Amino acid sequence: MADFADFDTRGYRTVDVATGYGRWVSTYEDTVEDVMDLALLDELTVPGWPGVRRAADLGCGTGRTGAWLRRRGVEGALDGVDLTPGMLEVARAKGSHDRLFQSDVRATGLASGVYDLVISSLIDEHLPELGPFYDEAWRLAAPGAVCVVVAFHPHFIMASGMPTHFTDETGEHIAITTHVHLLSDHVSAGLGAGWRLVELREGVVDERWLARKPKWEKFRGHPVSAALVWRKDGAAGPTP
Ligand SMILES: C[S@@+](CC[C@H](N)C(=O)[O-])C[C@H]1O[C@@H](n2cnc3c(N)ncnc32)[C@H](O)[C@@H]1O
Repeated sequence: MADFADFDTRGYRTVDVATGYGRWVSTYEDTVEDVMDLALLDELTVPGWPGVRRAADLGCGTGRTGAWLRRRGVEGALDGVDLTPGMLEVARAKGSHDRLFQSDVRATGLASGVYDLVISSLIDEHLPELGPFYDEAWRLAAPGAVCVVVAFHPHFIMASGMPTHFTDETGEHIAITTHVHLLSDHVSAGLGAGWRLVELREGVVDERWLARKPKWEKFRGHPVSAALVWRKDGAAGPTP
């Protein structure tokens, strides 16, 4: 498995997930770029969002993904799980989720086999291994369910040498523990858990990105994020 330390060009001080997001939370929504994840979600042909009856949002953060799901017509029950209390507080205030839980995406404590959508956006780089994540998503999923994973693209982490990071109130750039997972690591872990890959999209640095980050001209055309859509085959009712 690739080790981020071999690619790090920034050398930022690194903190763990709960510490990092606990400090980033006040500026998180101002700095995360919708083109990274929401624009990719917009492009997916699977699932049919309005058909979702019960969804689990793993690593729900401040509720951006949940709010997007509501805008796309998901009216069913929506549960969110996150490690970081401050991120959950913002999600609670936003009100897109029906229930929010402070727990780990690899051991959520949510009910088995009842969710027809499991979605997780921009958290995979914080997990040292992907297997436990895909296994837990599989446990939560009902037959016929879809699992949507949006990832910080491994190529971009390697080419830019940039970890997931934020800038604190003193101006210090602080990294949050970042792992590099090749797309083949996702495929191995997802297939290993039982999932079937039904869609894969990659977002590249394009005009939308360059309008926000002109210094990224050198990365024009490089993949920066990826969305993987998996299905749990099996006898099912209507599938989204
Ligand atoms: C970049 S934010 C993404 C939040 C949201 N999905 C979004 O798209 O804005 C990453 C979130 O994952 C959470 N996280 C990271 N590792 C986690 C884990 N093992 N279990 C639960 N939450 C985790 C962090 O607390 C943080 O809120």
